[in-house]
Amino acid sequence: MGWAIHIHLLAAISWIGGSIFMFVLGVSMRDKDAQKAVYPHVGPIFGYFEVVALMCLLGTGVYMANDFGMIKLVFSGYHSPVIDALRTKLWYVLVILVVTVIHFTIALRTNNKERTPLQHMISRGSSMLIFILNLFVLHYAMVIRSIL
Ligand code: HEM
Repeated sequence: MGWAIHIHLLAAISWIGGSIFMFVLGVSMRDKDAQKAVYPHVGPIFGYFEVVALMCLLGTGVYMANDFGMIKLVFSGYHSPVIDALRTKLWYVLVILVVTVIHFTIALRTNNKERTPLQHMISRGSSMLIFILNLFVLHYAMVIRSIL
């Protein structure tokens, strides 16, 4: 096994584990004062931690896919179980990236400030969506690895 899959897996654990933990924190910590005390401190650290994990995932993912000669095939009309699984996984990753940018933009703009109801709804909705989409990415990641 190469170095890239080790980093990819460590980053996947950090990225998905982090999103599950923040989801649980959001659901279980309902007290407004507790949220105001915790989020401004934890939020930025968590945000940068997650950005680093996502960058590692993208970097090592592209590296491995290229190493397996899969990148060219993904962007061609070619079909096979592993290429189709990677293609589907990449669509999910693309949506995750867009939703993450939206989520982080709101988080950066509103850290230490009161959120509007719309910002609150988009922030909650996007973190829920990232959490669910990650489960799909994980499924396709396992499909790819079981074939390779
Ligand atoms: C949110 C982003 C991502 C997550 C959470 C993720 C997660 C994972 C996980 C958990 C595995 C291991 C599966 C297993 O051992 O059963 C894996 C494998 C793999 N991933 Fe990703 N991945 C992401 C992004 C990417 C990207 C962007 C690419 C390619 C452009 C990619 C390409 C691959 C490849 C080729 C493997 C198989 C490596 C091998 O079997 O040696 N991944 N991914």
